[in-house]
Amino acid sequence: MNTEKLRNFLGSVPLHIVIIGFCVIWLIPALGLMVTSFRPVQDANETGWWTAFSEKPGAAEYTQYCGKCHGEDGSEIAEADLGDTEYIESFRRSLQIAATFNREYNGEIHLAEDDRPDDQQLADILAHLRRQTGLDERPQFTITNYEDAIVGYRGTTNYEADCEAGTQSVDLTCDFAQDLTNPRGMALAFRNSLFVAIPATILPLILAAFAAYAFSWMDFKGRIWFFAILVGLQVVPLQMTLVPISRIYFQLGIGGTFLGVWLFHTGFGLPYAIYLIRNFMGSLPRELFESAYLDGASHWTAFLRLALPLSMPALASLAIFQFLWVWNDLLVALIFLTGRNPVMTYQINNLVQSLGGGWHLLTASAFLSMLLPLIVFFAFQRYFVRGLLAGSVKG
Ligand code: HEC
Repeated sequence: MNTEKLRNFLGSVPLHIVIIGFCVIWLIPALGLMVTSFRPVQDANETGWWTAFSEKPGAAEYTQYCGKCHGEDGSEIAEADLGDTEYIESFRRSLQIAATFNREYNGEIHLAEDDRPDDQQLADILAHLRRQTGLDERPQFTITNYEDAIVGYRGTTNYEADCEAGTQSVDLTCDFAQDLTNPRGMALAFRNSLFVAIPATILPLILAAFAAYAFSWMDFKGRIWFFAILVGLQVVPLQMTLVPISRIYFQLGIGGTFLGVWLFHTGFGLPYAIYLIRNFMGSLPRELFESAYLDGASHWTAFLRLALPLSMPALASLAIFQFLWVWNDLLVALIFLTGRNPVMTYQINNLVQSLGGGWHLLTASAFLSMLLPLIVFFAFQRYFVRGLLAGSVKG
């Protein structure tokens, strides 16, 4: 008995290691993204996110080289009070400090040749002294990146600081509620993304449910052929249709509108959606439907009362996949929605191009756009697994 338990346990160890490995591979970059998005601009640009939790450089060096004479808080020597804000401010560069090392005080050289910090260490020491005296007061973590991303701030400091100083750019009013509608901001993009993703999920789902019912339980001519064509349609690359569809859209006057994107996503979601739901509906017990028809149920009743409720797991998982796909889509939004109605992916793309190294804004925006998919994923994760199995396992 015990050996069997042990063997079972040992047998599952490799599997667990693999699973933990996947979790780590997924979690570490996500964590890095999150930590960076909360760090002040300078920190995010200068050091890696993992240093956010460690002690700032310079403190240890200060204790090692200077602490024994100047004291831990720098104020031991009254003539050179390193704990005094104004005094430290007069040293703008570490070179100015290095120049004092050769001076002699009371006949003694300030710092002996072989007891000096190197350039980098000295720079860190100065940074430490500036922090300690409150010159470079910046918090470990901040939410200004999120504020900036949400209102679409593109200046050199941040939204709050600019508004306090009254130097904000023309497109920002500094009334936060009003700035939420700034076309460069993530707030508006979030609304647009929702406005795209929800109908583009519901529409194909409803149509696919109807079609799947027809393919599974209605007899009509050419059923097999229609279904074969449908399966074949799944391999049509989206890119191939960009030109013809956009021409049609502009003739119809729905280029750059939400309607156009809904229709496009519906069209491209449908073949796979019908295929998946049909597989699921088709595997429901035949007797159930036959007895329903014998009792005089119409197709409409059978669809609403039987097929739809029983296919809920498949529909839910499909909804999740379709939603995530539409949410993360850039190509379709870029071409059919353009900058007139920017969605989140469009906005992030713009950030990368216009800021290059603006990691603080980029990470905050990226995290904002991840938020909803994460919520959807965790809220519906059991459907997720069922959906992956839908069609592959009968019953
Ligand atoms: C051996 C003791 C000792 C050590 C170690 C030491 N100092 Fe000093 N430091 C002094 C004394 C003594 C003075 C002179 C105070 C005065 O003006 O009489 C001084 C003065 C200074 C001054 C003012 C220079 C000027 O003339 O304007 C600065 C800046 C300074 N120290 C920085 C540092 C830094 C940074 C370190 C560490 C890398 C350091 N010191 C290490 C003893 C020390």
